[in-house]
Amino acid sequence: MDNLEVKVGSLVFKNPILLASGTCGYGKELMEFYDINILGGIVTKSITLKSREGNPNPRIWESYGGILNSIGLENKGLEKFIAEEIPYLEKLNTNVVISIAGEKQEEFYELAKELNNYNFSALELNLSCPNVDNGGMLFGVDKETVKEITKKVVKISDKPVWVKLTPQASNISEIVKGIKKAGGEAVVVFNTYLGLAIDWKNRRPVFKRVFAGYSGPAIKPLVLRHVWELYEENLLPIVGCGGIVNFCDVLEYLLAGATLVQIGSANLRDPWIGKKLVEEAREYFKYERVNEIIGLAHKNY
Ligand SMILES: Cc1cc2nc3c(=O)[nH]c(=O)nc-3n(C[C@H](O)[C@H](O)[C@H](O)COP(=O)(O)O)c2cc1C
Repeated sequence: MDNLEVKVGSLVFKNPILLASGTCGYGKELMEFYDINILGGIVTKSITLKSREGNPNPRIWESYGGILNSIGLENKGLEKFIAEEIPYLEKLNTNVVISIAGEKQEEFYELAKELNNYNFSALELNLSCPNVDNGGMLFGVDKETVKEITKKVVKISDKPVWVKLTPQASNISEIVKGIKKAGGEAVVVFNTYLGLAIDWKNRRPVFKRVFAGYSGPAIKPLVLRHVWELYEENLLPIVGCGGIVNFCDVLEYLLAGATLVQIGSANLRDPWIGKKLVEEAREYFKYERVNEIIGLAHKNY
């Protein structure tokens, strides 16, 4: 076994570095920068049954230590995704996780069913988008809804099911217990935090929807705390996501208990970030296995 290799449920990853949904397109957009097959995997932009135009501009706003986004799940919809993206994704030599979202629970079931016809590694349920009126985060804060959607998707899908959590939920451990019972294989911790920016010049909120999703370095300590707590509970494998900009951040997540990490907004600033992190991981783990340090900080205090 290669030092960098890790397992999550039924899947093997060549290294723990994945790119997060919505920040790496459908994969091929990044291929002009580097060969994304060196990554542990990618998570594609969340798709919905029907195409979505997303929210009006502005959609991105820089803040100290991060950015706010209000994309609103713009995507081409399932039909075009299957026609234009799946053939390419099926040929990749790395794990492809397909993120799905919906305004109604039934949309998740329909998406999972249709996607059974194709080859990819896992489904990630986006039950955590803060930038839509229906579904998204509103599903993710309710433990019964999360459990029900997960249970049905697990039944319908022939792929492993991951659930992407929202930090807005108050009972995260209860939610994860439900996901475990429902047959989910891993949890992604987290989607963005709900935030606000005020355009002080014009004395109004920046975003039409007022609140938007906050991501980037500022959220890392907040997310790490939850990764730590969930690891202590030993419920499901944890995919850490939030604020990673360099390899030390990756190590923090692994030591706190994440088996995999996802890189989000950092891709927008530096499209080579995934490649750099894999190269640094190869160097760091020359004489030690990634597996040996997952959760290790829990033994050292
Ligand atoms: C521009 C943008 C678009 C995003 N789109 C999605 C999406 O479609 N689905 C999803 O599950 N998360 C989406 N996210 C959330 C990221 O995948 C990630 O969970 C979040 O940004 C936290 O990680 P980070 O601090 O490394 O950016 C998006 C984030 C950004 C910045």
